[in-house]
Amino acid sequence: MSLLSIGVLASGRGSNFQSIIDAIEARQLKANIVLLITDSPNAYAIERAKKHGIEYLTMVTKQYGSRDDYFAAVAAELRIREVGLVVLAGFMRIVGKPLIDAFRDRIMNIHPALLPSFPGLHVQKQACDYGVKISGCTVHFVDEGIDTGPIIIQAAVPVSFDDTEETLSERVLKQEHRIFPEAIRLFSEGRLEVVGRKVKIAGAAADKRSLIFPPID
Ligand code: GRF
Repeated sequence: MSLLSIGVLASGRGSNFQSIIDAIEARQLKANIVLLITDSPNAYAIERAKKHGIEYLTMVTKQYGSRDDYFAAVAAELRIREVGLVVLAGFMRIVGKPLIDAFRDRIMNIHPALLPSFPGLHVQKQACDYGVKISGCTVHFVDEGIDTGPIIIQAAVPVSFDDTEETLSERVLKQEHRIFPEAIRLFSEGRLEVVGRKVKIAGAAADKRSLIFPPID
């Protein structure tokens, strides 16, 4: 089997991007990141790409005539490099149809809440304000909706009365860094099948590994 080629889209600090780089370098994930695309010239993710010798492109939306033009150009760059999986690692834009159509069931996103609760932005704050006792993170395939695609793996974390957006974000982020490379690994091994809006994970004990409930630290 040839090595999975990954294209990463990121807008900011890129700690999830880093967790994927680390998993590859630790040989826990057999894949190759062939391209980082960022929509922001200031994204710290660029520094990470440089440090690890990963090609990067800064593609700023205003240089394109429309949202569709932008995502068609993104899809073209990914296709040229024969990307097999597109990973959204803190990419702060709603993905346009040209990219979804080009990579149907081959785009993954990480979301810092237990979907379908709290889709959208500032979700750790929303979880704290709402008073939920459990939150977490979700890796899902991307479809046309906002955080609505088929769920691959989730990790749960407890929420305490005193949690703030910052403390909860930090606890959730640790789990993001664990489950995102894991979901990519399952994909790279051909173990994910989208069945309707559900994802079937092939192999024993796969479902057990998809949930974690660490103590409040
Ligand atoms: C993460 O919390 C991720 O879940 C959300 O955006 C944040 C990106 O963080 N989609 P980073 O850039 O990966 O550090």
